[in-house]
Amino acid sequence: MSVAEAETYWTALEGLPRPTLQSLFSDPARLDTYATTLDLPGGAIRFDWSKTHLSLEVVALLGSVAAAMDVEGRRAALIEGEKINNTEGRAAEHTAERGIGKESSVEEAEALHARMAMLVDAIHDGALGEVKSLIHIGIGGSALGPALAIDALTRDGAKVAVHVVSNIDGCALEAAMKVCDPQTTLIALASKTFTTTETLTNAASAIEWLTESGVSDPYGRVIALTAAPEKAVEWGVDETRVLPFSETVGGRYSLWSSIGFPVAMAIGSAGFAEFLDGAAAIDRHFVDTDLADNLVVRAAFADLYYTQVRGCQTRAVFAYDERLALLPDYLQQLEMESNGKRVLADGTPLARASAPVTWGGVGTDAQHAVFQLLHQGTHLIPVDFLAVKVQGHDLDPVHHQILLSNCFAQGAALMAGKASDDGARAYPGDRPSATILCDDLNPATLGALIAFHEHRTFVSAAMLGINPFDQFGVELGKAIAKQIDAGGGEGFDASTESLLALAGIGG
Ligand code: F6P
Repeated sequence: MSVAEAETYWTALEGLPRPTLQSLFSDPARLDTYATTLDLPGGAIRFDWSKTHLSLEVVALLGSVAAAMDVEGRRAALIEGEKINNTEGRAAEHTAERGIGKESSVEEAEALHARMAMLVDAIHDGALGEVKSLIHIGIGGSALGPALAIDALTRDGAKVAVHVVSNIDGCALEAAMKVCDPQTTLIALASKTFTTTETLTNAASAIEWLTESGVSDPYGRVIALTAAPEKAVEWGVDETRVLPFSETVGGRYSLWSSIGFPVAMAIGSAGFAEFLDGAAAIDRHFVDTDLADNLVVRAAFADLYYTQVRGCQTRAVFAYDERLALLPDYLQQLEMESNGKRVLADGTPLARASAPVTWGGVGTDAQHAVFQLLHQGTHLIPVDFLAVKVQGHDLDPVHHQILLSNCFAQGAALMAGKASDDGARAYPGDRPSATILCDDLNPATLGALIAFHEHRTFVSAAMLGINPFDQFGVELGKAIAKQIDAGGGEGFDASTESLLALAGIGG
């Protein structure tokens, strides 16, 4: 890998002419070149990157960056289970959870999945008595994935009602407690490290709630999902109710492991297996396809082109499907916690921009709130639109037709713009967007969508030379909060001291 060599290609990219999107479309082959449909287990997905500024010249130079940074080698190292998370001395083996990776890791993941499926099936069959609801307690990667998958896949009902609780703010847990009957509720405790303050504090309150409600064996109602099983047992969870996963699966990549237990509880273990299969199909595309034809790489190329060459500081994701409303939040953690880094993997400074800020929302709501800036603001913001052909409700199909027509209209409007003598009514256009259109939304296509974004994030990291699998940036604030909670809240700046005094906390 040669950062210096890559730098020469970045410089060349900056010097390339910048044809408008509309002029790029004068090439009749453009759509075929940059929009591709992949046939996947749950139905086809269309990946349309034609309304971005990718061109043969841009792609060729980004290909040279990829070669200089040995993206192919990094991809192989990821899949072969090498310790590519060098700062923590571990591999990053989330693909092994989907059956793609080092043989021993795949076998271990299969055995753990089989154990999880047995427990899920047994609970569904009544082994723990009547179970109507599950309160899933976790935060960050231990909550965002389950929340997304359950919201996306249970609109027609769930085998067990799952309530995901993450925030330390008691309002979050209280809201779940209010709608659950303690006698028929299980608690899933999801924490890779089993040390996270928010999760353990919420867990203690959940136990208190069960105890005060007269549940005879409150700890017996808890299932722990963790890479630190010994800590869960020490905390009080029965060994038979601990579902471990490998230390080599990162928190924000852990939905595929036992962290997916609440998803399996909601949709069944067969549905969870389909979810893994959908992700594996994207793994195979990522691993088996040349970089030049690789859809994951194409997306990462566009992302990097905008941040590194056009100076874009944010990228937006709009799900034109209510079922995917939580996807922008999920991608925000995936991309910002992975690639929001200011150093290369070897600790030397990153001389370029790190990941952009990922933000977004749901269409059409966002159109009536933030799209003004996308169309006429001074920022250039690449946008991803996600939509699903088959509607997720039983109402008049007119709802879905209007939803999709709005989605496609936005991409067209951002690109074409509209001239006017009246500045306030003029749209500059030439604003890029990509569209992902799924034939259907089901466990397999959702798995594919998430895996696509995982690998997209990985390729961006590899192109820049950063380690996407650690997250030391979150530690400092946590340590200071702990210091305050331990009564050591002194010696801060005047502002912080005064806020602590006003709130009556700290030393
Ligand atoms: O604070 C960040 C973080 O470590 C995330 O990376 C992780 O997903 C989350 O906290 C929760 O951690 P854990 O699963 O260990 O409780």
